[in-house]
Amino acid sequence: MNTPSLNALLRRMPKAELHLHIEGSLEPELIFKLAARNGVELPYASVEALRAAYAFTDLQSFLDIYYAGASVLLTEQDFFDLAWAYFERAAADNVVHAEIFFDPQTHTERGVPIEAVILGLDHACRRAHAEFGISSALILCFLRHLSEDAALQTLEQALPWRRHFIGVGLDSSERGHPPEKFARVFARCRELGLHLVAHAGEEGPAAYIESALDVLKVERIDHGVRCTEDAALVQRLARERVPLTVCPLSNVKLRVVERLADHNLPALLDAGLCVTINSDDPAYFGGYVVQNFLETFAALPQLGAAQARQLAANSFEASFVPAEHKARWRRELDAVAERLGA
Ligand code: HPA
Ligand code: ZN
Repeated sequence: MNTPSLNALLRRMPKAELHLHIEGSLEPELIFKLAARNGVELPYASVEALRAAYAFTDLQSFLDIYYAGASVLLTEQDFFDLAWAYFERAAADNVVHAEIFFDPQTHTERGVPIEAVILGLDHACRRAHAEFGISSALILCFLRHLSEDAALQTLEQALPWRRHFIGVGLDSSERGHPPEKFARVFARCRELGLHLVAHAGEEGPAAYIESALDVLKVERIDHGVRCTEDAALVQRLARERVPLTVCPLSNVKLRVVERLADHNLPALLDAGLCVTINSDDPAYFGGYVVQNFLETFAALPQLGAAQARQLAANSFEASFVPAEHKARWRRELDAVAERLGA
């Protein structure tokens, strides 16, 4: 397939996005708009000055700016506006389903009521279904640099709104905060029937992927790219079809890999893993999900139409939806690919 046809397939094929931090979709323009609306002072003079600060050396250097950006989010309307802006981009990228992370502790620590966060996001999810036909669900993430007791408290605060989220995840600073630190809170979430995911093997070692599976009993691994440091683990991930939600542009921006051309995504696909492509924090890392597909495929010539279809099919397989929805999206994917001659 030539490049324009492949790019048309990458843009037009239906896809699910499973690794997207809603706070990471906060564009500089919206940061300034919300700062003005809420009377929040920003330490940057302009959108350009803020964007210029987006030069990260590792995960922590990103997180410091990401949490500062989120400080403009105060009201239910702010969370609606944030998520609505994401859904407009997702619709343009032919995302048919999104499982969206949010970080309540980033907001409740600043005195924002948890219901403002959850109800604002939920309102946008419902409207995205009505207007764009995009289905979506929320996944509450615990910040791993905080204590497990803080995570347990956050869970209790969120439980009155249990029907508005389908699962929990684990994000923020990975090194020095292994999955086992959160064994009790994940066990409790499991009893509650919540889906379980965790970031592991982004900056942290392959051993964190194993303990996320064995101790936390997660169903998907977010990132997971360092699994290739342990051949037996790669075999296990393939055998058990544990999905990895990979975020290529994020990996380059946070220097998990030096260049996209060095990314191990083709090796993971070749090993038979259920890998997906996602945007992580698109406002900070240079693009939404289609941009991740386009740049990754441009940098790695061994990826073609077959891999594009596989990645989209994997995103449906890895999603937390009933089998009928997965089957319908698969048929839509096959129809689009056929129309484009892929
Ligand atoms: N890793 C860990 N925590 C995060 C990330 C990430 O890529 N994005 C937002 N919070
Ligand atoms: Zn992430």
